[in-house]
Amino acid sequence: MSIYLGVNIDHIATLREARGTTYPSPLEASLICEKSGADSITIHLREDRRHIQDKDVEEIKEIIKTKMNLEMAATDEMIKIASQISPKDCCLVPEKREELTTEGGLNVFSQLPRMKEVCAQLDENNIRVSLFIDADKKQIDAAMSCGVPVIEIHTGHYAEAVSPAERELKYNEIKEACKYAHNLGLQVNAGHGLTLDNTIAIAKIDSIVELNIGHSIISRAVFVGLANATNEMKTLMLEARGI
Ligand code: PXP
Repeated sequence: MSIYLGVNIDHIATLREARGTTYPSPLEASLICEKSGADSITIHLREDRRHIQDKDVEEIKEIIKTKMNLEMAATDEMIKIASQISPKDCCLVPEKREELTTEGGLNVFSQLPRMKEVCAQLDENNIRVSLFIDADKKQIDAAMSCGVPVIEIHTGHYAEAVSPAERELKYNEIKEACKYAHNLGLQVNAGHGLTLDNTIAIAKIDSIVELNIGHSIISRAVFVGLANATNEMKTLMLEARGI
C-alpha cells in the first residue's frame, strides 16, 4: 500500500511573522511542495495566529491542487472558520498558548460529549475530520465513538525518546495502536517530530496511510531548498514501503 506525505508549512509563516514581512509566502511554499511530492498541505491556524494567518488559509485552499489539511483546536471560533473555508480535511489538535508546538495528543476520552458535537458540526459541513491522539487504545475507542473516519497518531514521544529502549517502547506502542485502529476500520495517519532519521521505521508500519511532517522539512529546506527537502522525505517514505 502506498504512503502519502502531507507537508506542514507553518514554519514558512513563522519566518515571515518574525519580521512582519510579506515573504516568504506560505502559498508559494505550498505550490513548491506539491510539485515535489507532497500529497497534501497541512497548516495549523493557531488561536494566537503566531504563524499561519486567516488569509493564508483562504489563499492556500483556493489555489492548491492537492488538498488542505487544516489543523485547529476544537473551539467555536475555529469551527466557524473551518465551516466557511471548507478544507478537505480537518485535524483537531489540543492547543495551549504557551507551548512551542503541540505537546501531546487530544484527550478525546475525557471530553467525549464536546468532541462528538464538534465532529458532527464539521461533518455536516462535509469536512473529513481527523483526531490527533496518542497511541492509546482508550483514545482510539473514544475517537471511534465520535464517528470520525481518520485518526492521526502522535509520534512526538517516539521522536523525543532519549534512549534506544525508550524509543523502542514508544515505537511498539505506535505500531500496536496503528494495528488496533486499522482493524476498527479507521484511516490511520501519523506525525509530529518526524525527521529523515526517524521516519523510515514509522513509514514501515503498513497500516499508516499518511504522514504529516513540518519542522524537519522546512529546516532542511534552508540548506537544500524546499523542493529537494520535500522530495527527499517522500522518496525515503516510499523506499521504506518498498515502492
Ligand atoms: N501533525 C500534527 C497534528 C501537528 O500538530 C503537527 C505540528 O503542527 C505536525 C503533524 C507536524 O509536526 P512537525 O512540525 O514536528 O513535523
